[in-house]
Amino acid sequence: MKDTVLKSLKQKRVVSGQSLASELGISRTAVWKYVNQLRREGYRISSSPRLGYTLDSVPDSLLAAEIEENLQTRIQGRKIISCREMQSTQDHAKKLAIQGGSEGTIVVAETQSAGRGRMGRSWASPPGGLYFSVILRPGITLAGAAGLPLVAAVALARAIQPYTAVAPGLKWPNDVLIQKRKAAGILVEMSAEMDRLDWVVIGIGVNVAAASVQLPPEIRRTSTSLAIESTRIVHRAQLLGDILYELEEALDMFQTQGFEPLRKQWKEKSHTLGKHVTVVGSRQSIEGKAVDIDGSGALVMECAGGIRQRVTSGDLFF
Ligand code: BTN
Repeated sequence: MKDTVLKSLKQKRVVSGQSLASELGISRTAVWKYVNQLRREGYRISSSPRLGYTLDSVPDSLLAAEIEENLQTRIQGRKIISCREMQSTQDHAKKLAIQGGSEGTIVVAETQSAGRGRMGRSWASPPGGLYFSVILRPGITLAGAAGLPLVAAVALARAIQPYTAVAPGLKWPNDVLIQKRKAAGILVEMSAEMDRLDWVVIGIGVNVAAASVQLPPEIRRTSTSLAIESTRIVHRAQLLGDILYELEEALDMFQTQGFEPLRKQWKEKSHTLGKHVTVVGSRQSIEGKAVDIDGSGALVMECAGGIRQRVTSGDLFF
């Protein structure tokens, strides 16, 4: 209901408590209660006995109504679950996916108390960042899904590019770097029966507002944020709309044309290929030159003696 009050205020800008109450079928006291909730969330709403409520300014909010205003998608984000605090949007979205949650549902939180990263790491999620997960049900096989993390990375880099002075680069498999430091990460999890994908949940975390000192000390040297790198003010609902748009476009392309055009885009944005790297996997580490991405998204490395190795998972270090 708070979202509906906000939508109405946005449409009309000035509206009396009585007409809002009749439009929404609630009491004037209930309208007043929702207006006060919105004020607490940073919306500046003045009231006068003659005019009623006036929406004076909006904060950088992730309420569903703000996100909806910035959507240009057919499917992604058409159902929104937005909370102030959550343990992990990824875990919440996975639960929904298992219960049959619809494709394109997004779960977004202002802050996460147990945000998860790749390889069992945690993901620091202070207020002011963008943390969300989206449920997908793509018509691809489990084998084909190996390319998804790279597809998501291409989409994320495309969405972030207009916000930064320098074009983002990609670190295999799916970190988005700005000026060689990580600004955003992607976690892709899925479930399949035989070779048929049931659901995929893509979780994305973008360091938006964090100043360097607000980043955890252990990642301060290797991480950055849009606030540090950006040339413009970032409205997170707009950034989210841009990411969902690029994600939908990239997924459409992946499903209709396959991985090849996205592999090409990933390689164009690569900050990995041509470099000497070490990939630390769960069982072994491989050292060598990163030379290519193959047709399923694996990293091709040239190791000692010119031997080529395909690497499908792990943490990459320069
Ligand atoms: C990584 O680079 O290690 C992946 C980070 C993914 C973080 C996002 S934030 C939203 C979603 N919820 C989580 O708990 N994790 C992902």
